[in-house]
Amino acid sequence: KKDQIITLLMEKMSIEDKIAQLNLVTPTSKTGPFATKNVYEKLKDGSAGNIYSVMGSPKSVHRKYTYVDSTSHKIPFMFGLDIIHGYKTVFPIPLALSCSWDTSLIRKTARVAAVEATSYGYNWTFSPMVDLTRDPRWGRVMEGSGEDPYLGSLIAAAMVKGYQGDDLTSPTSLMACVKHFGMYGASEAGRDYNTTDMSRLNMYQNYLPPYKAAIEAGAGSIMTSFNDIDGVPATVNKWLLTDLLRKEWGFDGFVVTDYNCIQELLPHGVAADIQEAAIKSLKAGVDMDMASESMAATLTKSLEEGKISERDIDIACRRVLDAKYKLGLFDDPYRGYDPERPKIDILSDENKAIAKEAALKSMVLLKNENDILPLKKDCKIALIGPHVTDQFEMFSMWSFMGDGSSVTSIYEGIKKQNPNIEVAKGTQVTDDKMILNRQNGFFDIEKQEELEKEAIEKANKADVIVAVLGESRNMSGEAKSMTNISLPDCQRKLLRKLKATGKPVVLLLTHGRPLTIQEDLPYADAIFASWRLGTEAGNAIADILFGNYNPSGKLTMTFPRNVGQIPIYYNHKNTGRPFTEPDQNDKKKRRGGLKFQSYYLDQVNTPLFPFGYGLSYTSFEYGEIKLSDTLLVGKKQTLLAKITITNTGKYAGEETVQLYINDPVAEVTRPVKELKQFQKVFLQPEESKELTFNISTEDLKFYNSELKWDWESGDFNVYVGTNSEEVKAASFTWNKRN
Ligand code: IFM
Repeated sequence: KKDQIITLLMEKMSIEDKIAQLNLVTPTSKTGPFATKNVYEKLKDGSAGNIYSVMGSPKSVHRKYTYVDSTSHKIPFMFGLDIIHGYKTVFPIPLALSCSWDTSLIRKTARVAAVEATSYGYNWTFSPMVDLTRDPRWGRVMEGSGEDPYLGSLIAAAMVKGYQGDDLTSPTSLMACVKHFGMYGASEAGRDYNTTDMSRLNMYQNYLPPYKAAIEAGAGSIMTSFNDIDGVPATVNKWLLTDLLRKEWGFDGFVVTDYNCIQELLPHGVAADIQEAAIKSLKAGVDMDMASESMAATLTKSLEEGKISERDIDIACRRVLDAKYKLGLFDDPYRGYDPERPKIDILSDENKAIAKEAALKSMVLLKNENDILPLKKDCKIALIGPHVTDQFEMFSMWSFMGDGSSVTSIYEGIKKQNPNIEVAKGTQVTDDKMILNRQNGFFDIEKQEELEKEAIEKANKADVIVAVLGESRNMSGEAKSMTNISLPDCQRKLLRKLKATGKPVVLLLTHGRPLTIQEDLPYADAIFASWRLGTEAGNAIADILFGNYNPSGKLTMTFPRNVGQIPIYYNHKNTGRPFTEPDQNDKKKRRGGLKFQSYYLDQVNTPLFPFGYGLSYTSFEYGEIKLSDTLLVGKKQTLLAKITITNTGKYAGEETVQLYINDPVAEVTRPVKELKQFQKVFLQPEESKELTFNISTEDLKFYNSELKWDWESGDFNVYVGTNSEEVKAASFTWNKRN
């Protein structure tokens, strides 16, 4: 039925009508270098079939898509927006949320975002961002789920399912757009929009799985990335967009470019003009041109000149119409919009409860010396930081529609539970200046000294200092790459002065990326990775500080000791000369063991905090791994790995128990460890539980040199632990045949 309806419609459409379907325009330059000129005229006269980033009140948004009524075929618009971590109810940034390792919660956050955004009439979101990220200099690591392909794939699928719901035609469903295809997370040197270059094996093994998982979960659209791959920009990369995406993975949705990607093919140096750029994109597999309008400007001419066929245009047009049909827009182009809905659906108590749960589960406890946390409810607190009273700072650069007034700031959240609190900014409230301050040593010294003085005075009168330091909102996200990812200099100085008061210091980091805080560790008794937590930030932080909730988050991106270690990630290769710890008891080996091995002269290889790391207010003891077998034959078997976890501390708490596998001898070099499974367990003090992991040959598979997903007979190591470094180990042999 769908195909018939679309065929009949396309028979009536002129070439210009069809090309309009490939045109995506925007009235703002919020996420790119320029806005579309005369955008609403183009909607009304039918030369642009899709629009995104319209913002405003529900009524004003609604008015824009009624422009469809004036067009000749009244074909509904794809009506998009970057809904990245919530709409009005803002959730923690995706990197933070991934630290919950809670895919059903993540799915719920996407569902809430879909329900809220569709009530304004949006039908399409440019999310999830599933780019694997191993380089915290890249500002966009905040938008993804970190460095692991397995966890990243689970989260990618959960988000797609959350946005799209069980039925795309439902008035509460948003079409997902997986981005940025592909390998954008590997932008060289962490500099945004930069080139990428990697082996196919690395792509298949690490970078591609999250995109594939999102497609398998049913994502209706996918966005090309800004970078080139193997020398061919993603937007004209036929291998990527057609051979892999369509033929190998069977994707049947539509492909949209990222902002102005088609015009950017000129500076990339693969097209002489926009006509050539548009032809190459269309032929490679692009169906919709975001913002560059190159297709709208040139495809008719290219057709007349015989450089493309009408069929080329039809294929792309049909895919876009297909998406509109799948969304139910032909039945109701204003699907979802109802002036009454926002009143009920936006920022409801239920939505805020999910935002709070998400914020609680996203915080990662990095240090808690002498169990200084949780704090006593009646202690006197000096809350120091440039943004502690700021509501909007709990958002990220992507929270365009977030409602700042609905946010509980850190100050408000703590004050509700303990009014015994004094506030001071402590450092200058800047963001761009903060960056300058880092790079050029510039800031207003007098003002800074004044602020510091006030902070120290308040700190001296308190029982405990809670310092909220780190990046401000606009220091991470798109085009926010950094070569220095430490705390800003003025904050590092302040932290040392606070510590010198002799009062215990709790450091809450605000950030969108792992930060290099090795040298700051001695100046804080407790440290949280507390990211940008969204609407419920203050309430969640207070609950955690006072022990109403026991922290359970686990890092999904390695924290390096310094930028020189980057890229750094847990699932690295062993190399032919792996570093061996020198034997301190043996004089001869103390240095000898180190020579000509893979290491740095001036820094250890290990990270500051590894993947999977995160403390709790309680402690968990891991028993030994018990395997049901140590020799298995054939793919039908299942190996059981059992392990007992005991809560040995004072508080009830949740632990994420992680299972890693290593294949020490294979046809291609394999990582030292790969996450294959994890389980969550909640334990009361002194309680123990035995967990069972079912290991199958699926967990042993990898891409071999022919890019075949398979496993090999041989010996394997299995590790179970609280993070990727602290693990219990066992080994087994699994052969294909006797
Ligand atoms: O969705 C974004 C993308 O992530 C970066 N460029 C602009 C797009 C639309 O706003």
